[in-house]
Amino acid sequence: MRVKKAIIPAAGLGTRFLPATKAIPKEMLPIVDKPTIQYVVEEAIASGIEDIIIVTGKGKRSIEDHFDYAVELEQNLLEKGKNDLLEKVQASSKVNIHYIRQKEPRGLGHAVWCARKFIGNEPFAVLLGDDIVQAETPCLEQLINEYERTSSSVIGVQTVPENQTHRYGIVDPLMKEGNCYQVLNFVEKPSPGTAPSNLAIMGRYILTPEIFLLLEQQEVGAGGEIQLTDAIQQLNQIQSVFAYDFEGTRYDVGEKLGFIQTTIEFALQNEELKKDLLGYLKGILEKEELLQVN
Ligand code: G1P
Repeated sequence: MRVKKAIIPAAGLGTRFLPATKAIPKEMLPIVDKPTIQYVVEEAIASGIEDIIIVTGKGKRSIEDHFDYAVELEQNLLEKGKNDLLEKVQASSKVNIHYIRQKEPRGLGHAVWCARKFIGNEPFAVLLGDDIVQAETPCLEQLINEYERTSSSVIGVQTVPENQTHRYGIVDPLMKEGNCYQVLNFVEKPSPGTAPSNLAIMGRYILTPEIFLLLEQQEVGAGGEIQLTDAIQQLNQIQSVFAYDFEGTRYDVGEKLGFIQTTIEFALQNEELKKDLLGYLKGILEKEELLQVN
């Protein structure tokens, strides 16, 4: 069966970015000029996904507005002949997105479970908005290709430094074939020094619908939340779940330093900004070096 549907959980409180996220969803914070969630939606569409459901919560209305028509704005841009901007504005209103609200913040596993009726009995994708991936073949498409090869759930992973493993879901790998691992265990946020490997789950999943039965009975795990990783670990006991070391660069926009690094990297990819930004960064570095000499 083809993977046609995707879930994007976006109900989190965004506490790492307070006070900015007091009245604005963290998913709407921009990298250069585009909200982070739009990068993720674009990856899903580029990977062949036809229907997206965003799991929202309180205070997330602007996400819906962003992916809707903005009639007055579009008319205004049209009249002024600002076609470039019009195209950019319309790009986000062309996609067909559904919404469901997670009524209480009970964790990623619960957010995914909230979308079960939309998915029904077919394989589906999950994309987390904290992870933006740039790749020649979109990350999700790589996982879908692997799903089609194996007919099994596939979880996107990449290597992280040893001292970062406690921040992620970590896989305990077995055999490797190409970029694809059989997995013994999936562990959510292992305590420092106890991770079975440094292969970390990077916010991209293809899952079979059996996961919903496991999520239904899932008890709270790491951080007192219902964890998707725990349900994946159980799924792996009844049907294979593979980990796929995808190609591409993953940016972490879910924490401050990662957000700033991503902003700089994406701005440097923008021809209009690159030269001035480089000059500015050079100036900062020179100033810092001078400070050190003194
Ligand atoms: C979530 C997942 C975790 C994964 C991470 C990737 O954690 O639970 O397994 O490694 O996303 O970004 P969060 O960062 O939302 O706590």
